[in-house]
Amino acid sequence: MCGIVGYIGKQKATPILLAGLSKLEYRGYDSAGISTMEGNEIKVVKDKGRVENLYNLDDTKKLEGSIGIAHTRWATHGIPSKINSHPHMDSTNSFAVVHNGIIENYIELKKFLEENGYTFVSSTDTEVVPNLISYFYKNDQQNDNLKLLRAVKKACDKLIGSFALEILSIYAPNNMIVVRKDSPLVIGKGIGENYIASDIPAILSYTKDFYLLENFEYVVLSRDNIKFYDTNLNEIKKASTSITWDAMAADKAEYPDYMLKEIMEQPTSVRETIGSRLDNAKCNFDDLGFTKEYLSSLQQIYIVACGTAMHAGLSVKNTIEKLCKIRTQVDIASEYRYRNPLVDEKTLCIFISQSGETADTLAALKLSKEKKAKTLAITNVIGSSISREADYCIYTHAGPEIAVASTKAYTSQITLMSLLAIYFAEVLETANPNELNEIKQNLLSLPNKIEDILKNSSNIGSIAKRMFKEKDVFFIGRGIDYATAEEASLKLKEISYIHSESYAAGELKHGTIALIENGINVIGIMTDKDLEKKTSSNIEELITRGAITTVVVSEEVSKLIDLSIFDNIITVPNTNIYLSPILAIIPLQLLAYYVSKEKGLDVDKPRNLAKSVTVE
Ligand code: G6P
Repeated sequence: MCGIVGYIGKQKATPILLAGLSKLEYRGYDSAGISTMEGNEIKVVKDKGRVENLYNLDDTKKLEGSIGIAHTRWATHGIPSKINSHPHMDSTNSFAVVHNGIIENYIELKKFLEENGYTFVSSTDTEVVPNLISYFYKNDQQNDNLKLLRAVKKACDKLIGSFALEILSIYAPNNMIVVRKDSPLVIGKGIGENYIASDIPAILSYTKDFYLLENFEYVVLSRDNIKFYDTNLNEIKKASTSITWDAMAADKAEYPDYMLKEIMEQPTSVRETIGSRLDNAKCNFDDLGFTKEYLSSLQQIYIVACGTAMHAGLSVKNTIEKLCKIRTQVDIASEYRYRNPLVDEKTLCIFISQSGETADTLAALKLSKEKKAKTLAITNVIGSSISREADYCIYTHAGPEIAVASTKAYTSQITLMSLLAIYFAEVLETANPNELNEIKQNLLSLPNKIEDILKNSSNIGSIAKRMFKEKDVFFIGRGIDYATAEEASLKLKEISYIHSESYAAGELKHGTIALIENGINVIGIMTDKDLEKKTSSNIEELITRGAITTVVVSEEVSKLIDLSIFDNIITVPNTNIYLSPILAIIPLQLLAYYVSKEKGLDVDKPRNLAKSVTVE
């Protein structure tokens, strides 16, 4: 994980670097550091703790340079500490490096360097990088202007793993070098100044012109110039991409936390997701070029993802199977890739990822391509690794999601996948057109219904007040509501640290019911009128054993069951059953949020987590 920022220009670098790091803290926040060029010297200031801590250090205030690199860390090798924080320097103090990724062969590289007189101070994998660059630089007899770049390339050729690197050197005090392999890095182009970051929102307030780097493209930046080189160090030309997002979209605005802002944005984000794809009652994914012949040839669809994105896959599995009559499996990326999945050219593999950078999802995608399956990415981040690696890509257009706990990306993923399922069913003619029209109508009314839920959510804060001291919470649901239970449980545990589990309503009695005793909180989700009686009976079994119950019910279901037996009732508007996960999760996102606030926790940056998991 980790976030990196760079600046080269005429302004003082430190404020720009610190502001960028603050925006990247979602990627890691256990330590942070900065290096600037001060004349011909490299200065490093770093410490354990959050970026905020760096702001206050006296040494940070002394940095005057207008070229700098910076890093916010999520520890992989070496505990969070000052010494393990980035930037790291080589033992001759000539090269400074910040790194996002993992160097898998660092032990053997370290041994080689030690044998050649280099010494190490940290326990990180990264420290081999500046030392390796130093080694190759010092052993290169040719003194031309590509000498530094050559040393960086030779070092990168030795690295196994993933990396996005920013490099400063006393031998090129007016330059910065960057390169990436399997870790994200973007370059923002300014006038007389240029910016680097792990993602676009971190520097969006300075420029809208971006270069998206491919693996092993080397970049030499100066204040007025950006030169790109291919892996053989031949200079290449690259086109820039203009970003249309508003920088405000990546700010907290009037909200106390990004998570609350992103929950509240869901009427808009879902509307944006639908926007381009459902026009005049016609679903349009013609840009994919999937013909009826191709879709009919499919024997199965595999949806592969991690965390919340995987839950989005679970929520649409039934929709695809029912509407398109194609067998659909959902798999966790880190499992899929290690079990030799049975996929081939008759499989469409769909990879859902908000960030488009999750290492396991990316690796699963590459594996599927090797097995000749067609690959389709669903991501929120334009130009992300997964979007570029897949054969096809469609975007959720939910806008930047900053809080570690995913909310608006999730509802947009289900929305987009539902639209895609309708489109496939239309092309294949596998579903009743009236049913498809009914789903489309319901899709269009989702933003207003989400707004209603958000407006009428005042009882959720009081439920949170009664729940925040709990040790265990159980979520149950049946059918499509089970997928919502999974996601709701993840939301609660990741930001409130309350142990929670989700169960298929009928499965709880096969063992786990032993854990139900007086006062245990159970949350039941019931939006399917055909299944609600069964789930309601399951919840009653738990009430008999002393459970305190909260139910999320659709209006329709609320009229079919006796609500008086439950302690707390949250009602959501009716919608087509395939879309109900989009509405049912909203109050449960809010519940997790308020429970976390009641506990006084940092909602946006829960412990041990990072938003973009670029390690396997
Ligand atoms: C991390 C985040 C989760 C997210 C998952 C997948 O674990 O903490 O919130 O769902 O990664 O991320 P992706 O960017 O691939 O959707």
